[in-house]
Amino acid sequence: MVIDARVKQMKALVLSGGAGTRLRPITHTSAKQLVPVANKAVLFYGLESIAEAGITEVGVIVGDTAAEIQEAVGDGSKFGLEITYIPQERPLGLAHAVLIARDWLGDDDFVMYLGDNFIVGGISSLVDEFRSNRPDAQILLTKVADPRAFGVAELDAAGQVVGLEEKPEEPKSEFALVGVYLFTPLIHDAVREIQPSWRGELEITHAIQHLIDKRADVRCTVIEGYWKDTGNVVDMLEVNRTVLEGLDQRIDGEVDEDSETIGRVVVEEGARIVRSRIVGPAVIGAGTVVEDSYVGPFTSVAENCRITDSEVEFSIVLRDSSIHGVGRIENSLIGRHAEVTPAPNVPSAHRLVLGDHSKVQIHT
Ligand code: G1P
Repeated sequence: MVIDARVKQMKALVLSGGAGTRLRPITHTSAKQLVPVANKAVLFYGLESIAEAGITEVGVIVGDTAAEIQEAVGDGSKFGLEITYIPQERPLGLAHAVLIARDWLGDDDFVMYLGDNFIVGGISSLVDEFRSNRPDAQILLTKVADPRAFGVAELDAAGQVVGLEEKPEEPKSEFALVGVYLFTPLIHDAVREIQPSWRGELEITHAIQHLIDKRADVRCTVIEGYWKDTGNVVDMLEVNRTVLEGLDQRIDGEVDEDSETIGRVVVEEGARIVRSRIVGPAVIGAGTVVEDSYVGPFTSVAENCRITDSEVEFSIVLRDSSIHGVGRIENSLIGRHAEVTPAPNVPSAHRLVLGDHSKVQIHT
């Protein structure tokens, strides 16, 4: 085997801490990176693309939800990865994560991947490009409708990054920073130089700006493909829709004679479809029962749910939940062990037991 000395060993630093405030109440009891898209945790898609890019050593930054992330990901062998967990005492920022991972990263180049980001098409070509050109840092940008929610890059006429701002009120462009960054060890000097931002975090955006100020070679790649930060429910449903678009039909569970599945539908082993209609793309998790119901396009129902006498479309239903006799549900994210049932007819009123930070829209 010929080993090319120029190809440096690369590691990946995956950020899986954070509070996930915009996905409450789901994130009161579960890590945001583990919310499933097409019945697979968002984080798993990221780990798979890291493995595909030929990287095996992965450091996972964990916070309050460390136990849950570790239980789901394990030692990484199921992804072909070797995982080291690096605890972050509080969510003190992306640059803080680099700071605490300093010893583990050593002098290797690395890709930093935000565990709640979703990139269609993976990162292999980006990693290859970085390996062959080896600039000091490489960032990914994409056009977004509202850049104020992100880090924003200012580009010159030649398309070079000249400045970066974190969540600016008046964005200088429509190019947002995607949550995947490629770094050489030069970033370690930069993260030591910066001060916390107004939100009390050490921002990676500021550290990269520091590199730009020092005239380091910071390159950007504009990605045309699909990217979402799955931090809120609307984006989560949208990512779910996109992933389901690529689904292949597979019926491993039982579909009775009085039911029909139309289009690309996955019915996992142990799931049962009784007197129901499932219109794809949709996925029904193992052990779930759908009875006298309709499940419409772009819906993911996780394991061990029960849907009876109801219609569910364009939604994500997490495991062990039940929806019974409630007419039609759309555009919804339903947490684990949730129960949705009709209220008794008299008096005519909605009866709710909602978790903290829940959001309900009632049709009146
Ligand atoms: C972070 C970064 C921001 C970037 C975004 C991508 O934001 O600070 O620059 O655009 O991730 O998801 P946060 O999720 O911490 O608000």
